[in-house]
Parts: sequence; structure tokens; C-alpha cells
Amino acid sequence: MDRTLVICKPDAVERGLVGEIVARLERKGLRLVAADLRTIDGATAARHYAEHEGKPFYETLVTFITRGPSLLLVVAGPEDTCKVVRTLMGVTNPRDAAPGTIRGDLAVELTENLVHGSDSPASAQREIALFFPGL
Ligand code: RTP
Ligand code: MG
Repeated sequence: MDRTLVICKPDAVERGLVGEIVARLERKGLRLVAADLRTIDGATAARHYAEHEGKPFYETLVTFITRGPSLLLVVAGPEDTCKVVRTLMGVTNPRDAAPGTIRGDLAVELTENLVHGSDSPASAQREIALFFPGL
């Protein structure tokens, strides 16, 4: 099975939307391999979002992702799982995201966009190792 990392971000936990998001992943046919409710610390957030260091939204992003518990998930599907997840998520800005997607149906703010999904198989491998070492 092909695995990817999904984060139900702090806004998803605060708004009680974790069940809705997990249900959408499961109904699609993906399966949970690991799950942990955890507040991401600053050092881990910096490693996770290293590609964005120096960008104008970086501080906002790290403050947001560390502000409370996130639900970290490893999900598996037959192939192209990161692409499948990102299609379900919708585009980054919820105001542009299509109806039927998680962001399109459930969010309106660019920072508070509910979910993260690894953007490539290489990112998935790196991020699973970062959040679930030894899995
Ligand atoms: P994520 O990594 O969180 O799953 O989101 P993504 O791949 O769709 O978007 P990415 O480009 O990786 O950006 C990470 C997060 O940074 C915020 N962002 N703000 N102000 C801006 O121009 C801007 N661009 C991105 C978003 O909250 C995005 O989820
Ligand atoms: Mg990204």
C-alpha cells in the first residue's frame, strides 16, 4: 500500500471537524495506518515547513500549526495516495477550493484551511519519518 501523511490542523480539532475529515478519507477508500492527537512543537513545525522558511506567511503558519492539538494521520491507499488526498482536500486557499472538497466545503481562511497532505511521495516519506519515527 502507498502511504501519505495527513494533518487535521488545530482549527479542525477546535471546530470538531476531525470526524468529518476522517470519514471523507475512509469513504474514499483510504485506510488509517497510524493516528495521534498531538500538539506539534516549534522545532518539529520548523522542520515540517522548512520549505517555507523566509516567506512572509512563515511565522503565521508556524504559530497557527503549534497553537493546539492536531490529529496526525498516516493513511494508505493502493497508489498515488498523496495525490488522492490532495484532490479530496482542495486547493490551498479555501476561497478558491471547489465544492465537494474538504477546504471548499468547510473553510474560508487561507491559514485556517483544516488539513495538510504531503505534496509528493518524497514528502510523504520525509513527513511520516518526522512525525512517526519507527513506523
Ligand atoms: P499544507 O502544506 O498546509 O498542506 O498546504 P498546501 O500544500 O496546500 O500549501 P503550501 O504552499 O505548502 O503552504 C502551506 C500553508 O501556508 C499557508 N499559506 N499562506 N499567505 C500566503 O500566500 C500563503 N501561502 C500559503 C497556507 O495555510 C498553507 O496551507
Ligand atoms: Mg504544503
